[in-house]
Amino acid sequence: IHIRFIAADQSHQDIEAAVDQSLMKAAVDANVKGIEADCGGSLTCATCHVMVGAAWAEKLPAATPDELDMLDFAASPVQPTSRLSCQIRLTPELNGLEVHLPASQH
Ligand code: FES
Repeated sequence: IHIRFIAADQSHQDIEAAVDQSLMKAAVDANVKGIEADCGGSLTCATCHVMVGAAWAEKLPAATPDELDMLDFAASPVQPTSRLSCQIRLTPELNGLEVHLPASQH
C-alpha cells in the first residue's frame, strides 16, 4: 500500500509498504527520516510518534490505554490525531495513508 510521510518542514516521503506489519516497521525498513523507534515496537519509547492525517484518524482502530499512556512521553507536542506508529497495523484499507512527523522524537 502507498503511504506518505510528511515532515515538519512539509517535505514528504512516499513509500510502498506491505500490509500486516506495523506502520513503524514499514517506515524503518524504508529509511523514513523522523521515525526513531528505539524500543523496536514494544511500546516503551514513544520515539515512533506520528500525527495521522485528519481524514485517516477515524479509519484507524482506537489507541489502547497503554498506547495513550506512552504517548505522554513523546518529545514533541501531542495532537488529537497523535499515535505511536508501532501500534498501527497496516491493512489494505489504509492505502493512501498520510501521516505527519513531529519535529523531533527526542
Ligand atoms: Fe517504541 Fe513505538 S517503537 S513505542
